[in-house]
Formats: sequence, structure tokens, C-alpha cells
Amino acid sequence: MLILEGPAGNGIGFGMARALGTECKSVAHGRFPDGESYIKIPRVQKGEDVVVVQSTYSPQEKRIVELLFMIDALRREGAGSITAVIPYLAYARQNKAFSDGEVSSAGVIMKLLSESGAEALVTVEPHDASVISKFRGRRAVVDPVSVFAPVILKEVKSPVVIATDRGDLERAKRLAGKLGCACEHVEKRRDLSTGNVSATNRLGSDLGANEAVIFDDMISSGGTVELTARMAAEKGCRKIVAAASHLIMADGA
Ligand code: R5P
Repeated sequence: MLILEGPAGNGIGFGMARALGTECKSVAHGRFPDGESYIKIPRVQKGEDVVVVQSTYSPQEKRIVELLFMIDALRREGAGSITAVIPYLAYARQNKAFSDGEVSSAGVIMKLLSESGAEALVTVEPHDASVISKFRGRRAVVDPVSVFAPVILKEVKSPVVIATDRGDLERAKRLAGKLGCACEHVEKRRDLSTGNVSATNRLGSDLGANEAVIFDDMISSGGTVELTARMAAEKGCRKIVAAASHLIMADGA
């Protein structure tokens, strides 16, 4: 098996290769004068199983195109199976058309990946498990809860886990189970024109004896974590810790 580290592999491919005791090679890449992406994969053996590692964090479109180019080149060079490891899957939040005229962006990305020739897809916490259901090959999601739990337990003694959304409750409950504590959630509304979030519920009556562990799949603008932290502070939490699988930190966060 060969691991190929894409331009946005962030060293994860090499880390995987060390852990698996296998080989990892980098992909040559560049940019044409007009901004278009250039990709050249190293030589692969015919029939060799290849794992290509590429995150799709900003600039998302460029990273997605590079990934599709790598998969296509691997297929043409005669690779056996092709597995795409995408640590951060862009567009996961737009997983359906929320109003008329919108696009299921995640659906389009899954279709492109399926048609490019990738047979398997591995990603970390893709916002919602349904996001990758449209990928036609094998799928696996890396769940970071068991990685977070021991780290968080070094920070807090009497935690309460707070999910930033009702949809995140299941994930937060799994973390609470590992921490051996209770779980609460915020109900939030996002103003689509400004992106601002506001809460539509209140947290438990007194959390003064607790440390809040805010748990989210990603921190992008930071608005959700900020809102949740303010709510936890209002209820007297004596310490507030935030954990997220993907630290996007968009401009201004
Ligand atoms: C939304 O449903 C997600 O789970 C995150 O809560 C959200 O994407 C965080 O974004 P931001 O940091 O911009 O509030």
C-alpha cells in the first residue's frame, strides 16, 4: 500500500505511514500563471492500493480540484484501489438545499468524488453522518470523542458538556458518557443574512459547581462557541473549555 500526501495533506499522510509502517510520497503541485492548479503524482505500481490524503480547508475549491486531479491521475496510472482520506470535509454544512434555489453542495462534492474513481472515503466528524451518504463507495468516519475525553479530563474536575445545537446532542452525549457527567444543549437560530447566532433556550438553573465543556464539530466564525460560553457564564460555570474537531477560525473569529 502506498500513501500519497496531497498539497493539503498537512503531514497527516506521513504520520499515517509511520503508524502503519508503510511508504508515503508527496505529490508535486504548482499553480499556472492564471491561477489554475497543476498536479503530478509520483510513479505508482500497477494494481497498488493507494491512499490519498488531502484536507479541503480553505481555499476549498482549489483543494477539492487538486484531490479530484490526484484521484483521476491514480486511476489512469493503474492504481488498484483508491481511498481518499479527507481530514476536513469542506461544504459539509450545506448538506441540503435549505431554501428554493440553493444547492446541496455536499451532495455535489460526493458525486464528483464517486465519479472520479475513489472507492473509499475516510473523514473526521463531517458535521452530520448523512453528509457522506451520497458517496457511492465504502465510507468511514473517524470519531474524535475518545481522543478528546482524556485531554478534557486533565482540564476539568466537575464538567457539564454543552452541545451547541440540538443536532449535536448525540455527539455531546457520547462525550458526556466518557467524562461521566451530564449534558445540556443550546438551541440556536442563525440569521442567514448576517450569520449571527442567537439562543432560543436557557441552560440549567445553576451550573456554579461545574466547568462547562462546549463541544462542537467546528469553530468557524466563533459565534456559536461565544454564544454558548456566554450562556454558560451566565449560569455561573467557573471554567469554560471549548473543544471542536475542526478549528476553522474564519476571518474575524
Ligand atoms: C453548525 O451547525 C455547526 O455544528 C457549528 O456549530 C457551526 O458551524 C459553528 O460555526 P460558527 O463558529 O461560525 O458559529
